[in-house]
Amino acid sequence: MKKINIGLLGMGNIGTGTYKTLEMNRKQITENTGLELAITKILEKDVARKRDVTVSPEQFTQEPDAVLRDPGIDIIIELLGGIEPATSFMLTAMENGKHVVTANKAAVAANYEKLTDAAKANHVLFRFEASVGGGIPILNALTTALLANEYEEILGILNGTTNYILTKMAEDGRPYEDVLREAQEKGFAEADPTADVEGHDVANKLSILISLVFGKRVPPQEIPTEGITGVTMRDIEKAAADGGKIKLIATARRTGDGLEYHVKPVFVRGDHPLAGVNNEFNAIFVKGNAVDQLMFYGKGAGALPTGSAVMGDVIEIARAIAK
Ligand code: HSE
Repeated sequence: MKKINIGLLGMGNIGTGTYKTLEMNRKQITENTGLELAITKILEKDVARKRDVTVSPEQFTQEPDAVLRDPGIDIIIELLGGIEPATSFMLTAMENGKHVVTANKAAVAANYEKLTDAAKANHVLFRFEASVGGGIPILNALTTALLANEYEEILGILNGTTNYILTKMAEDGRPYEDVLREAQEKGFAEADPTADVEGHDVANKLSILISLVFGKRVPPQEIPTEGITGVTMRDIEKAAADGGKIKLIATARRTGDGLEYHVKPVFVRGDHPLAGVNNEFNAIFVKGNAVDQLMFYGKGAGALPTGSAVMGDVIEIARAIAK
């Protein structure tokens, strides 16, 4: 059986979820692909961290080049988070002929052309499904099954942490700080949750969606962005009294003279489908000129849902290179 060797950069929450997804479903993945997928090297400093997966100590290294330049490795999974050194590591991996999978929305949004151009120049595949909507296969759908469409609008709840906070504040009347701590404990939040609560994480994801849906590069810092730190319990109670909810909504739509885009907390009427998207769930609405309205719904954060998306990309690449 052909073996595909994988190098993992970062084994925190999502790295562990990715490793676990492969271990948990190894039999079925092997049967479906006819391939043996093996995570052979892991770049990670925190070797002692308690993880509920079995990793042998010799799989770990603290030397980036030992993974990025290992001639035996076919695919690199980048799960370090942050723009650097993640971007440089991905570029080095591509220059060394490795296919790259990442969940890193900050790096993809900041360096979209650089990364996609490098993949083309080095004849390798680059996939980043897990960077938007966690386990929801939205990028895959947009770039395959929906290719026949021209899009008019995207509307989405794209951050699990803030949706969890807004849900628990509304449903249980719990204070913001308390619920944020819980979202961090559940592994939804970024290492620095400022990116979540200030809306920057959503701006990164919207920037990636705009590139794919409208074929236009809008850097995240050019997207007018407001997070949920200004949303008070009074706002939430008023929204409930008016029959709706406050949700952090990402919007991009075609207008007569171009594109309109922003990220901000919005009052959503109770009868709108987005009002029913709660906790760490995400949802993305798209409107195509042929397909009309579609809504994608699923867990937008968390180790296993994100691990599922990462492994989906890895399997797709493994199949392509084994042909
Ligand atoms: N911190 C992100 C969120 C993780 O809460 O949605 C998934 O991108």
